[in-house]
Amino acid sequence: MKKLLISIAAILCTIGSLQAQKFDGLAKTPPMGWNSWNTFATDINEQLVKDIADSFVKYGLKDAGYEYIVLDDGWMTKERDQNGNLVPDPKKFPNGMKALADYVHAKGLKFGLYNCAGAQTCAGYPGSRGYEYQDAQKYAEWGVDFLKYDWCNTEKLNAEGAYMTMRDALYKAGRPVVFSICEWGDNEPWEWAENIGHLWRVSGDIINCWDCEVGHGSWSSWGVWKIINMHQNIRKHAGPGHWNDLDMMEVGNGMTDAEDRSHFAMWSVMASPLILGNDLRTASKETLKTLTNKEVIAINQDELGIQGFRFTNEHNVEVWIKPLKNDEWAFVFVNMNDEPYELNFDWKKHGIGDDVNGKWLDLSANNLKVRDLFNQKDLGATDKSLKATIGVHDVLMIKLSNDSL
Ligand code: GLA
Repeated sequence: MKKLLISIAAILCTIGSLQAQKFDGLAKTPPMGWNSWNTFATDINEQLVKDIADSFVKYGLKDAGYEYIVLDDGWMTKERDQNGNLVPDPKKFPNGMKALADYVHAKGLKFGLYNCAGAQTCAGYPGSRGYEYQDAQKYAEWGVDFLKYDWCNTEKLNAEGAYMTMRDALYKAGRPVVFSICEWGDNEPWEWAENIGHLWRVSGDIINCWDCEVGHGSWSSWGVWKIINMHQNIRKHAGPGHWNDLDMMEVGNGMTDAEDRSHFAMWSVMASPLILGNDLRTASKETLKTLTNKEVIAINQDELGIQGFRFTNEHNVEVWIKPLKNDEWAFVFVNMNDEPYELNFDWKKHGIGDDVNGKWLDLSANNLKVRDLFNQKDLGATDKSLKATIGVHDVLMIKLSNDSL
C-alpha cells in the first residue's frame, strides 16, 4: 500500500511538473516592442494602438525587429463583470480586445496586455489575485501574446509563488505568451525566475532623465544611469529566454539626442528587452534613426544572449563590453562629462576578458576590424588606437569583427 501511494505521488509530481512550465522557445533574444505606460499612462484607447501598429510599419520599426505592442495599466473597467471576467473599458476599446489583437496581428505584429498579481493593479483596476486561471483563459481567447504582470497591492504574497501561479495559468490556457515579470527587483527575481518568466524588471520605474532620482514618498522613479548602476552582479542570470529588464525606454521622451543614443546603446549592450516608451506617431527623425539602427539592434539581438559588463569608467567615460557570436565584440564608450571628450583608446594596451562566460579577446595576435555602429562607418583596425571626439553624454559604439579589412 505504502509503495502504491509513493508511486501515485511520483506520477502526480511528474504530471504536475509537466504542466508547470513556462512557454519555451519564446524570447530567445531580448523581446522588442512598445508599451503605452511611459507616455500615455492610463490615457489609452483603440485608435492609439492602431496608430502605433501603423507606425511600426510606416517608420520601419517592424522591419527593424520591433514586434510586441503592449497595453499597460488602464485598459479595463474598474469592476469585473458578474461572471468575474475582466472587461475592456468600452469607452476606450469599443470593439473589445479580440478585434484589436486581430488588427495588430494582421500587421504581422504581436499583442500584449498588463495585469497585476495583487487584488488591484497599481492604477486601481482589478488585479488577477484569485482569478489567474480565468484571466489567462480570456487572454488566450483574445489572442494575447505577451503579459506584463505587476506587483502592486500584493500584501504578503510570496513573489515566486504568485508568478508561478500565473505562469501555470497561462500555460494551461495554451496560447504561447511571453511572461514579463514586473516586481521591480524587490525579491531578486534573477535568483528564481528563469523557469517562470521570460524577462523581469530589475528596478522601480524609469523616468526620462539621464541620472536623476525622483521621489514620490514611498517609492522613486529612476533615471537611465541610476538603473544601469543599480545591480552589479546579475548579468550571469541573463540569457536566451530569460532577461534582466531595465524597463521600457525613454528614448524620444525629452533627453538630448546624444543622451537618447547612449541610453539605446546601453540597453543594447546590456541585452535588455528593447521596449519603446515614446509616442511613435510624432517621433522625430533623429529618434527614429536611433531606434531603427539595425547595427546597434544586432548587438542587442546577438544570439549568444550575453549581457555586457562595465570595463572601466576612467576619466568619467563609461566603457562597456559585450561578447558576441563568432568571437566578435561590442564596445560602448559613453562620455559622462559635461564637455566633449577626446578618446584615444589603444586596443593593445588592454587585456579584455569576460570570466563569467570564459571569453577572451587577444588583440596582440589578432587584428580585428573596427566598425562605428551609430555612424555605420569602418574605422580601420585594432592595430591603431581608436581616436574620436565624443560629445557631451554621447556615445561611440564599436563592433570588432573578423570581417576582411
Ligand atoms: C508600475 C509598473 C509600471 C507601470 C505601472 C502601471 O509602476 O512598474 O511599469 O506598469 O505600474 O500602473
